[in-house]
Amino acid sequence: MATYYDSVSHTFSEYLLVPGLTRKENVPDKVSLRTPLVKFKKGEEPALSLNIPMVSAVMQSVSGDRLGVALAKEGGMSFIFQSQSIASEAAMVAKVKNAKAGFVVSDSNITPDTTLSEVLELVKKTGHSTMPVTEDGTPNGKLVGLVTSRDYRVSRMNGSEKASSFMTPREKLVTANASATLSECNDLIWEHKLNTLPIVDDADHLCYLVFRKDYASHKENPLELLDDEKRFMVGAGINTRDYKERVPALVNAGADCLVLDSSDGFSEWQADALEWIREKYGDTVKVGAGNVVDRDGFNYLAEHGADFVKVGIGGGSICITRETKGIGRGQATAVIEVAKARDEWFERTGEYIPICSDGGIVYDYHIVLALAMGADFVMLGRYFSRFEEAPGEKLTVNGAYVKEYWGEGSNRAKNWQRYDLGGKGKLSFEEGVDSYVPYAGFLHDNVYMTTYKIRSTMCNCGALTIKELQDKARLTLVSSTSIVEGGAHDVIVKNEDKSYNK
Ligand code: IMP
Repeated sequence: MATYYDSVSHTFSEYLLVPGLTRKENVPDKVSLRTPLVKFKKGEEPALSLNIPMVSAVMQSVSGDRLGVALAKEGGMSFIFQSQSIASEAAMVAKVKNAKAGFVVSDSNITPDTTLSEVLELVKKTGHSTMPVTEDGTPNGKLVGLVTSRDYRVSRMNGSEKASSFMTPREKLVTANASATLSECNDLIWEHKLNTLPIVDDADHLCYLVFRKDYASHKENPLELLDDEKRFMVGAGINTRDYKERVPALVNAGADCLVLDSSDGFSEWQADALEWIREKYGDTVKVGAGNVVDRDGFNYLAEHGADFVKVGIGGGSICITRETKGIGRGQATAVIEVAKARDEWFERTGEYIPICSDGGIVYDYHIVLALAMGADFVMLGRYFSRFEEAPGEKLTVNGAYVKEYWGEGSNRAKNWQRYDLGGKGKLSFEEGVDSYVPYAGFLHDNVYMTTYKIRSTMCNCGALTIKELQDKARLTLVSSTSIVEGGAHDVIVKNEDKSYNK
């Protein structure tokens, strides 16, 4: 006979935290959001930790190299999507690892033949007004000049004029060699009163740009997630089909942590993949597994050596798995049960295996609820897809800026490796949609605000660390009437924009 669970499964919005005593030392700036990323033994330190409890989803529309760099700067980690060729995923990982803090690979490049009209188009598209001119128009081509908004006057010039006629030519540019440190570059920027310093290699090929404005922001970023060689840390997704080729390529490219990307991770394929990685690399390669939604799923992956376990089926914003297949579980209930299994495992074995709540975070406060319920960190797709650095195209729909956000189980992503059962090698039916999300600007500003809110709520609960929050949190289920009471009610709201909440 089938097993029935005694209680209904709940989502985050059905819970609230009841404040605990706020001591005078409970101020947001004193809260530490550092959290373990991979398993560790009692009394030891984890080999990898995050400085903020946020990672970005293994998705084409979320985790490319640009978002990887932006998130590592804030202290979190991106897991580069695996629904692409091994070579291109490894190249993205390498790009994050090679991105030096404060050194930017230019994404607006032109040739000497680019016309003023084309320059203006590009400025509109990328929002960047500084454009290196390279021989072949690539980010690493031979440097021949630089165009900034100071080089042209639209009202006085013809749109067909070529960049070669108005750019600042190579011989007039101050540049630095790729071996220069950030502080040496900064000295040059000050000495020559520059806004942008191109960095070139010995053959005069462009490598990076260093911006005056970035130096300050880099110095202000104490939470940056860096490896022992001071390179940004980055994760990468793998699947249960081609891991024997994909894992070595990603490890060579410098990936700091891997994660098995499957919609249902309670499977023998995951066990095989985990065991193969352990056999080949011992515990030098870190790999998370999932997704699961209950104790049995957690224990299975723990027994097969997962470094962390990802929780969540069917709660993602673009996800239609519950509708198409009838599997899943309310995300809050899933996290609460898996966190219990994690704690029991720790009691039994002395090994702490972090858990990640994946999908279904709509409001910022859902993150702090997930942490309070026992998650060590959260994975977000929709949240990050809205930012400038996400790979999706920025478009205008009904006069508002939006970004594209599509599920890995949609026909657009065709990530059959994540969903296919039995090795057909194709996506038999869709489990995700293709959508738009409101554009929300740069990652830094949003993550700063989100983490500030998390810190504030933690203060309300009297907690200065995530562990303290988990120990002290008091959570209550709320009735549907009290959910209505939780928003603005019985007033005529002047501005219906609720973005303050997200
Ligand atoms: P979100 O943060 O609510 O947008 O959820 C993101 C999560 O949804 C990802 O990390 C995946 O676990 C999951 N996901 C991604 N693509 C799909 C899909 O096409 N169908 C179902 N779930 C998906």
